[in-house]
Parts: sequence; C-alpha cells; structure tokens
Amino acid sequence: AKLLLLHGPNLNLLGTREPEIYGATTLAEIDRSARALCEQAGHQLETFQSNTEGSLVDRIQAARDEGVAFIVINPAAYTHTSVALRDALAAVAIPFIELHLSNPHTREAFRHRSYLSDLARGVICGFGAHSYTLALQAAIHQLAAAPD
Ligand code: DQA
Repeated sequence: AKLLLLHGPNLNLLGTREPEIYGATTLAEIDRSARALCEQAGHQLETFQSNTEGSLVDRIQAARDEGVAFIVINPAAYTHTSVALRDALAAVAIPFIELHLSNPHTREAFRHRSYLSDLARGVICGFGAHSYTLALQAAIHQLAAAPD
C-alpha cells in the first residue's frame, strides 16, 4: 500500500532547531529510516514537508486521488491552530496517526489542544525521532489488520 508521511512547519530545521526539545536527528534521516521501514514491510512511502498550511492541505487532497491508504502526520504548530488541516483530513477520510517528537502535554498550555487528535486512529508523542518509528509501525500494523 501507499503511505504518506507529512511534516508541518519548521520541521525542515530538525537537527538544529531547539535540539534539547526536538533532538539532533535531521528530517532527511527521519525520512530515510521511515522509507526503509515501510519498504521492508512491502509498502511505499512518500514524504512531504511544508511551512505553509495550504500546501499541506493540497498534499492531503492529492493523497486521495493517489490512493494513499494511510497518513502519518506531524502537524507541528498547525496541530494547535488548523481547522483547515482538520477539515482536509476529514474530507479525504484516509486513516491517519498524529505524532509529535516532544510530549506537548508537558509543555505550554497552548500545546495541549490538538485540532486533529479526535479524528486520528491514534496519537504518538514524546519519544523524539523514535515517535516516527512507532507511528509507522502502528500504521503498518493497521494496514495489515484492515487491508484495502
Ligand atoms: C511538535 C510539537 C508542536 O507543539 C510544535 O509546534 C512543533 C513540533 C513536536 O513534534 O513535538 O513544531 O509537533
């Protein structure tokens, strides 16, 4: 099946961005191990990062036409603000997992609210770059449980 890994704003800076919170792993390293994990399981992975809300909405809309079976998304700051991303994910009705490197619940109050979590199959947060591995393993497991 086709999986799509989406990264929201500022995640292009991973590796140098507040490493005490987000770790030292770069986005390219995350994408590389994510792709390897999916390919080992017999799936294909596309990855996409944008600092722009509309580009993420466009990518989610395109995913339906491409037959993407599952989305894994770190919406970054848009987690806490974006009705548009929520509506796009609801519109395409592709199952998704929300993930975060940090645990937003231990941080500022404005990070405690997610506009996406109640639509997600599940949410993974707090494990740094390993959050991506855990989320993709969960997505692969979900696809095996309900293939099509
Ligand atoms: C984040 C948490 C968000 O609150 C923040 O805006 C980010 C990254 C994370 O992965 O920990 O940009 O999604």
